[in-house]
Amino acid sequence: MGKALDGVRILDFTHVQSGPTCTQLLAWFGADVIKVERAGAGDITREQLRDIPDVDSLYFTMLNHNKRSVTIDTKNPEGKLVLEALIQKCDVLVENFAPGALDRMGFTWERIQELNPRMIVASVKGFGPGPYEDCKVYENVAQCAGGAASTTGFDDGPPVVSGAQIGDSGTGLHLALGIVTALYQRTMTGRGQRVLAAMQDGVLNLCRVKLRDQQRLERTGTMKEYPQYPNGTFGEAVPRAGNASGGGQPGWILKCKGWETDPNAYIYFITQAPVWTKICNVIGKEEWATDPDYATPAARLPHLKDIFAEIERWTMTKTKFEAMEILNKYDIPCGPILSMKEIAEEPSLRKTGTIVEVDHPTRGKYLTVGNPIKLSDSPTEVTRSPLLGEHTDEVMAELGYSVEQISALRMAGAI
Ligand code: COA
Repeated sequence: MGKALDGVRILDFTHVQSGPTCTQLLAWFGADVIKVERAGAGDITREQLRDIPDVDSLYFTMLNHNKRSVTIDTKNPEGKLVLEALIQKCDVLVENFAPGALDRMGFTWERIQELNPRMIVASVKGFGPGPYEDCKVYENVAQCAGGAASTTGFDDGPPVVSGAQIGDSGTGLHLALGIVTALYQRTMTGRGQRVLAAMQDGVLNLCRVKLRDQQRLERTGTMKEYPQYPNGTFGEAVPRAGNASGGGQPGWILKCKGWETDPNAYIYFITQAPVWTKICNVIGKEEWATDPDYATPAARLPHLKDIFAEIERWTMTKTKFEAMEILNKYDIPCGPILSMKEIAEEPSLRKTGTIVEVDHPTRGKYLTVGNPIKLSDSPTEVTRSPLLGEHTDEVMAELGYSVEQISALRMAGAI
């Protein structure tokens, strides 16, 4: 079966996490992704957080599947010519260098357009135009500047960053969407364009509900589904809401059987309005279904703490999986707090290709997260990440370089 992006060539000038997640997705959809790295060093993540000496780290391998690796010194004049040949041959250049790095290398937007007017140049930067546009940015900086940290955690504690890499992988996803959209527009205009995904913008996009709440707070001075209501106080900005649900159906994380020793023996429980009577029956508080203080969503809001405490008395008598089984029978929305160990071992995730085992020549077998987006006519087959420069000769030959020319360029340190 063919792939959705068959025939699309990506010049992958990305490193670390945000850019590589984007190009990995494009590779999974069938694009030919040619990753350009510096000879002898490569993407810095190859050697970061290593668990096996001298072997590409899991950090690198898990972000660079299905790609080819070529080494080019793009500051060497002859290396620049090789990069120019690649620009002429590819459809998209993706980069996430620090601001200005590509220009300093001599590859401005104008120069790239001269070489290939159809080329799409896609960039991740920490910030869009403005006071911080020249800053280097990593994941947690973006989470802090995009509104995630100030709204995550508990009211009596400091801001907290999430384990979900919304700044890096989240922005990579945004960029991938921008790239396929620009490719689609190019089919009509014949022209390339620039695509920018700023990490602050990407995080803020994912924190949209908190900007909603900021405006609600300014208008009404309170937010009744937040744990600060009714006894706490609200300030000028959206406070941290602990584990309160971000939507209109109140939820909280509750202890389950075994919580004293198992840090993940918890369940997320949502008191969805349509199943309120069923919730009351399950936890043995049948009278709450008709009690005017509890019968309607509005009446329940001032009592949410007590309600969750009562539900927790019930969940603490069950393991999270037993509770799930009972609650799902009644369509009560809930979710177990799954550890990474439980997720890694979950057979259904292996079956769908969401968790994949990959074999690597120097590392051996390891687990990775497969393509979370499933296309029925373009299934993903995850193949291992490339070794540094593994495809240099192959790609150079495709560009028309002879064996002699390749070895001369290697001698000159250009590749
Ligand atoms: N040949 C020659 N030089 C190369 C090269 C190659 N193949 N590949 C990269 N370089 C050079 C660049 O041109 C740059 O040189 P310059 O500073 O002299 O212009 C240099 O390598 C380093 O690039 P830089 O991006 O500054 O790397 P860094 O390690 O100092 O910073 C980040 C890393 C992530 C902080 C920075 O790249 C950044 O802010 N990127 C944008 C935001 C982002 O994506 N952040 C998330 C990362 S997960």
